[in-house]
Amino acid sequence: MQCELTIEALGTGGDGIARRDGVKLYVPGALPGERVRVELGQAAPGGRRARLLERLTESPQRASPPCEYFGDCGGCVAQHVAARPYADWKVDIIRDALAHRGLADIAMAPLITSPRATRRRARLAVAHRRRARGAVVLGFRRRGSEEVVDVERCTVLLPALEALLKPLRGLAAETDVAEISLTQAHEGIDIILHGFDAPPDLETREALAAFTHAQGIQRLSVESLAAERGRKRARGHGGRVKRQRQAPVLEIIAQPGPVRACFAGVWVDLPPGAFLQPTAAGEDTIRRLVHDGLGLTDLAQGKRGARVADLYAGLGGIGFALASSAAESAPPHQVAMFEGSAEMVSAAGAAARQSGYSVTAEVRDLARRPLSVSELKPYDAVVFDPPRAGARAQAEALAASGVARIAAVSCNAASFARDARILIDGGYRMCTLTPIDQFLWSSHVELVAIFGRDGD
Ligand SMILES: C[S@@+](CC[C@H](N)C(=O)[O-])C[C@H]1O[C@@H](n2cnc3c(N)ncnc32)[C@H](O)[C@@H]1O
Repeated sequence: MQCELTIEALGTGGDGIARRDGVKLYVPGALPGERVRVELGQAAPGGRRARLLERLTESPQRASPPCEYFGDCGGCVAQHVAARPYADWKVDIIRDALAHRGLADIAMAPLITSPRATRRRARLAVAHRRRARGAVVLGFRRRGSEEVVDVERCTVLLPALEALLKPLRGLAAETDVAEISLTQAHEGIDIILHGFDAPPDLETREALAAFTHAQGIQRLSVESLAAERGRKRARGHGGRVKRQRQAPVLEIIAQPGPVRACFAGVWVDLPPGAFLQPTAAGEDTIRRLVHDGLGLTDLAQGKRGARVADLYAGLGGIGFALASSAAESAPPHQVAMFEGSAEMVSAAGAAARQSGYSVTAEVRDLARRPLSVSELKPYDAVVFDPPRAGARAQAEALAASGVARIAAVSCNAASFARDARILIDGGYRMCTLTPIDQFLWSSHVELVAIFGRDGD
């Protein structure tokens, strides 16, 4: 069914939002104020989808999308929005999440945006069209769909990663790869091919190694299900043979040289698949905001530097910068990193020992076993940078602690707002909040918030 609507707002997912008979309608590609003709579609969470057929009026906030795939490719949702309303939209994602938790009047710094063509991490999807021999589609998924949109160019990726799209399409045609992770590490590009049913045979390994050398790749790994599937079958209920669920195995196929990141002058080996901020500019911004916000020099006491817990520390992207920030004549700051991934802790720990800084790294599942109030006692400052689910349990312990200053880094406004509410209910004040746009033109937004004790 078709109808005409006026768009009222830009939703958090980037769709134009309209209402019809009290039902919320999501119209991708439409902007607030525009009069549009749409085809009503399927039910969606909280409303119904609608397909834009025609724009009857055009918003002055409309921009010309820089990418030819915009609208088809699901990677970007907001290239049609001019710079100013785009920045307002990203900031409003955070504002709305805070308001939902009763935190309506928090001041926010202006959005810091990463430039285009700077994304250093991407996960590409691959579809094999079996009937058309050798035909492979490689790109990003269509929005809300499993369908893969073939892309040959990408305006957000670093040019070196964009240049690999074509050769990777050729490689994908020769294998069963389902997804491809790309990371620009310091010395070169790190690739993981995901979705192999079994470890590659000798011929495939040779082809992958040849690709690595021909393209100047720094490392190529394969993620596959373990070998000998047949033997690992078990009898289920009713005696039927069922295939056991197998954890994927990651194997390095070729690595001509080191694959590392450099944080504040400290070189850290990058295990395959390890976390790295999506842009180098975003990483620098986060580091600077955390460092300046915590003010470790003020927190240092007499003969010792400040003591900091870096929670969800990853490879130490933030922690090494804090440890190295004490003035040469001053006592060094002491940083204790806690992180769930044993591989990342091992890499960060080895780098810490080489660095000469006062840094320790410990494996800890902070969702199940957050640092308790008594464990938090020695620390002057804490930084926590959790995955999208946030850090509810850790925020509860922090709220009851005496830690003087806390930096929260988050890539999910909703879980951040929940954790901020917990800290504020525990007597903390949000001193600064800075939104960061690391995922250009997507509906994701990053932020750094600094908390202090009331009266601090
Ligand atoms: C957003 S990253 C932050 C990494 C680091 N702060 C940085 O800037 O590079 C989140 C980190 O949390 C880790 N993580 C996820 N769940 C965890 C858990 N339950 N306990 C501890 N660490 C966890 C991930 O391995 C990842 O390194």
